[in-house]
Amino acid sequence: MRLHYRRALSQCQDTILSSKEMKTFYIETFGCQMNVHDSEKVIGTLLTQGYSQVETPEEAELILYNTCSIRDKAEQKVFNRLQQFKKDKNKVFGVLGCVAQQEGEKIFERAPHVSLVAGSASYTKLPQMLVQLEAGNHRVTGLNLDTEETFETPFARRDNPHRAYITIIEGCDKSCAYCVVPFTRGPERSRTSDSVMREARELAQMGYSEIQLLGQNVNSYRDPSPAGWDFARLLRAMGEIDGIRRVRFTTSHPRDFVKDIIDAIDENPVLCNHVHLPVQSGSSAVLSRMQRLYTRDEYMRRIDWMKKARRNISITSDIIVGFPGETEAEFNETLALLDEVEYDSLFSFKYSRRPNTPALALEDQIPEDEKGRRLTILQEKQRAIQVRRNGDLVGVVEETMVEGFNKATGQWIGRTSQNRTLNFVHAAHPSPIGDESLVGKYMPVRVTRAGPNSLAGEALQ
Ligand code: 5AD
Ligand code: SF4
Repeated sequence: MRLHYRRALSQCQDTILSSKEMKTFYIETFGCQMNVHDSEKVIGTLLTQGYSQVETPEEAELILYNTCSIRDKAEQKVFNRLQQFKKDKNKVFGVLGCVAQQEGEKIFERAPHVSLVAGSASYTKLPQMLVQLEAGNHRVTGLNLDTEETFETPFARRDNPHRAYITIIEGCDKSCAYCVVPFTRGPERSRTSDSVMREARELAQMGYSEIQLLGQNVNSYRDPSPAGWDFARLLRAMGEIDGIRRVRFTTSHPRDFVKDIIDAIDENPVLCNHVHLPVQSGSSAVLSRMQRLYTRDEYMRRIDWMKKARRNISITSDIIVGFPGETEAEFNETLALLDEVEYDSLFSFKYSRRPNTPALALEDQIPEDEKGRRLTILQEKQRAIQVRRNGDLVGVVEETMVEGFNKATGQWIGRTSQNRTLNFVHAAHPSPIGDESLVGKYMPVRVTRAGPNSLAGEALQ
């Protein structure tokens, strides 16, 4: 295969590769699980196009960054990375993902050594974009958001041999006032239930035992084929696939979260007893300004369904502090919500102004140091809740999926159905030397100690 990166060739004629040599690429991924899985699909696509993946940017001819723009800090990361290599004229750079979609061709001005800018809604056209790159075009773009397509490929190069991601819905039709996602990932598009089920069955046959269903808002999944399945129907069907022992999903929007989802979880232990239900704020007034489409009471009704479920459902959430105009009293409502719900884990963030979003126009921005103060208070409260809740689990036996071994601590790394990390020792398998066989297995583990973020235990013999 031949490389025709004209810019590279003009700098260094002898970079022409012989027909036996492969084209090499390096990819770094930022952001959410959707991005991680997009990268798996991008990698698969590149491999089928004759590229081979390398471990460091130094070794690569093509360097790709799959980017996130959810907060300003995430966005800055990619520009920092691009600065590191700007003098290397022999490499071709591509920016993929949310920053690519958001900044578009402006990236070429800010980082002239970049040759490819493509958002996730254009990944189906990657093979054509690669051909253009190889022909020496250094202004290749894939920025069209107006698509009904989803990015499906049988060639995803999955990172984990036991747990596999499946995208069921792409894009987002909500318009939360703070959020860039509707601008970076385009309108909502669901895959047919047929194609999702086929992928899951194939994964089961390949030996994957855990499936994680992905989407910006999985609850608004709607099968576009005549079968017309909703999300709960899809979940139930996933739970019946031979060989699949765990099914998870992320992320949910409270507005579209219906009781039937909890009923499905209650019916079948294959569906993990964990729901991530981002609340964002405990104040109905803030929720209204955020355009979240639910009140605190409506959110609490959903929490109530989970607390009353037969199974012990772990609940986790996302919260933003310092949204424009958030008063001390409104912030206190969020603190009170933490006490009321008692989340098992929480991702919390300082509000960050994002381009294009409705909240950009709101007045009364909260100063950074005040946002920081509120975040610290919130996180300290949540930490105390987690210490208490995890402490309650000491003595309990949890089925644990083994994910790896930590040489430093001599413990196996495990995960419970509730998505808690449970590190444990195993008397018959003190270490994996010459015996990696525990990884991917499921085993009962008794919890013996609890910290704020993880549990420790010992495997039952
Ligand atoms: N500022 C801070 N946090 C944000 N999130 C989304 N947009 C912003 C923003 N502009 C948070 C939300 C969301 C999580 C993925 O990121 O809490 O649920
Ligand atoms: Fe980041 Fe959101 Fe894009 Fe995921 S969808 S990469 S969180 S901006």
